[in-house]
This record gives sequence, structure tokens and C-alpha cells, in this order.
Amino acid sequence: MKLLALYGSPRPRGNSTILLDRFLEGASSQETEINRIYLSQLTISPCQACLPPETGRWCRIDDGMTAVYEEVLAAEALVIASPIYFGSLPAQVKAMIDRFQCVWLARKRGELLLPFDKKKPGFFLCVEASHRQDFFQNARAIVRNFFATTGFLYSGELFCRGLEKQGDVSSRKECLEQAYQAGVTLIHKGGTARG
Ligand SMILES: Cc1cc2nc3c(=O)[nH]c(=O)nc-3n(C[C@H](O)[C@H](O)[C@H](O)COP(=O)(O)O)c2cc1C
Repeated sequence: MKLLALYGSPRPRGNSTILLDRFLEGASSQETEINRIYLSQLTISPCQACLPPETGRWCRIDDGMTAVYEEVLAAEALVIASPIYFGSLPAQVKAMIDRFQCVWLARKRGELLLPFDKKKPGFFLCVEASHRQDFFQNARAIVRNFFATTGFLYSGELFCRGLEKQGDVSSRKECLEQAYQAGVTLIHKGGTARG
């Protein structure tokens, strides 16, 4: 199974990154081909709401998204990890998601260039410094929409609160264990869905 991991934090060895690495260890316990994309290392312009080009490319803007479109749409399972910024997703993650508007439009018009498999599993990992439930709900709504647009089922989530400093999650054994188990389960689900 081809699993794509999207890292949303710009902080090296941050909490969401550590959790995602643990998730991938769980996923690796089964036969999995893992691709990693660190969104903050790419140049991703905000969506300019222009019409998509006639053919060949998803978007008129030629930047780091060119590879992201291919990887996301070719993946058989998807996991995205992100911190909460100002009650929602960081700009790096939101910019990437907004740039999928061209895919949403293509689906709406029946002009898909790639097949969609409704059974592809998607997972969302999210961390925050506070203990606010509503911030996770905000982030979840956006990620659910992103998964639906790109052909993934919102198959699970792990939200870890009270994580402020870089690496705080390393002392939260329950979060790390849950992330590992979620990785194992997601790949199992994907395998079952594919038959
Ligand atoms: C710009 C910015 C905005 C933030 N906004 C929030 C917030 O609204 N609520 C919150 O609980 N934590 C907020 N945080 C804290 C991060 O969510 C927290 O430190 C998290 O552990 C960072 O994850 P990372 O280590 O994966 O980057 C913010 C951090 C930054 C840098």
C-alpha cells in the first residue's frame, strides 16, 4: 500500500512530527510504501482563485504543489499531521488544501484526470498547547473537506492537548502509543478495503 504522510509543522522535531513518525512506525509493521512530504519545506503560494489551465496541469501556479497533487492523488492511504495555530490549521497546511480547489472543480464538472477510490483511508493527527476542543473541531472540519475532495475517507483522528514546547509529546506515552496503533490500524483498514 502506498501511504503518503504530510507533515504540517514548520518546527523541526516538533510534536506533530514526532507523533507522525510514531504513526509511520506502526504503519511500517505491515507492508507499506511510505512517502513523506514536509509542507513547510515547499514553496506553496496561496490559491489565486484563477481558472485551472485547459490541459496537462492541475494549477496555473507552478510551485511546490505540482508534486503534491501527484502524490496525494496517487496515494492509497493518507495521513496528515498538524499543530493548531490560532484555533485552526497553520498557513502552510491551509494553503496546500486551498490549492486543491482545482481538483474540487474538476470533480464537480466530471473532468477528472485521475480515478478516485472512495475506500482509501485518511487519518488526521493534531496537537495544541491548550485544552480547547473547539480548535480541534475547526481543524477537523477543514481536513474532512480536504479528504472528501481528494477521494479519502476520514477514517480516524488523534488529538493531543497540552503540548506547547518542542518535543513535549515525547513524555506523553499514551499519545505515542495511540499514534503507533493508529498507524497499524489504518494500513489494516486500507488492505481490507482493497480486498
Ligand atoms: C503561530 C502559532 C499559533 C498558535 N496558536 C495556538 C492556538 O490557537 N491554540 C493552541 O492551543 N496552541 C497554539 N499554538 C501552539 C502550538 O499548537 C503547539 O506549540 C504545538 O505543540 C506545536 O506543534 P509542533 O511542535 O508540531 O509544531 C500556536 C503556536 C504558534 C507558533
